[in-house]
Amino acid sequence: MATALAKAAEGAASTEHAARIEHVSKSFAGPAGQQLVLDDITLDVAPGEFVTLLGASGCGKSTLLNLVAGLDKPTAGRITTDGRPALMFQEHALFPWLTAGKNIELALKLRGVPKSERRGRTEELLELVRLQGSYGKRVHELSGGMRQRVALARALAQDSQLLLMDEPFAALDAITRDVLHDELTRIWAETGLSVLFVTHNVREAVRLAQRVVLLSSRPGRVAREWRVEIPQPRRIEDAPVAELSLEITEVLRGEIRRHGQH
Ligand SMILES: Nc1ncnc2c1ncn2[C@@H]1O[C@H](COP(=O)(O)OP(=O)(O)OP(=O)(O)O)[C@@H](O)[C@H]1O
Ligand SMILES: [Mg+2]
Repeated sequence: MATALAKAAEGAASTEHAARIEHVSKSFAGPAGQQLVLDDITLDVAPGEFVTLLGASGCGKSTLLNLVAGLDKPTAGRITTDGRPALMFQEHALFPWLTAGKNIELALKLRGVPKSERRGRTEELLELVRLQGSYGKRVHELSGGMRQRVALARALAQDSQLLLMDEPFAALDAITRDVLHDELTRIWAETGLSVLFVTHNVREAVRLAQRVVLLSSRPGRVAREWRVEIPQPRRIEDAPVAELSLEITEVLRGEIRRHGQH
């Protein structure tokens, strides 16, 4: 038994990835014909890895994330993921007629968790995002930060290996965002999830990630990537975070200049 398990783990390790994006291109039909948005993107996310995808507005970050989520198909290339990913967007997309707890329970129900286990599991998830006691709160009674915590708990309820996040904290004030960065880093470390996190905020990318991947614009290509060795927990105002952010910003500015955006 132990040998079989060890073998399985060994076999898995050689091909294991949470997401594999291979030579992916995406075009959309526009007024001037086909518009190439993503051009030959190759990128892997390792199991348990935290990767941020950084790029100027309109460079194709959401398009790529949607492809990884399976919401759309690439024009060319291939995407494989370890199971079905969970998604979290800038807009919380909670059902306003359901309570915080019921929003989470619905995700458990959809993945077939028996009714008798749902309430307990929901309470655990609420605790994980530090919203214990908020089961019965309605969405309109929650602050923006609390809503994003519920949305995160709901994403975690899907029990996916891969969490895809598209600017989930962009609409929050700086202090709330800071707290949620800490929470996300803690939850990532506790759960061993793989995260692909989209942002156009350089400091946020550096604050969170083990690896920052910079996309160029028009078309989106992998311009450069950085491994972030700064130990966690980091603060957005830490000197090494600021230093690396400055370096990345310079490259990003160059990319934006080259493509005539502002
Ligand atoms: N369904 C679609 N049909 C046509 N064009 C699209 C579609 N989705 C995205 N695009 C175009 O693809 C480009 C990239 O859009 P995308 O939303 O991926 O950018 P983004 O990097 O996420 O930008 P932002 O930071 O502003 O969210 C844009 O020019 C957009 O107009
Ligand atoms: Mg976007």
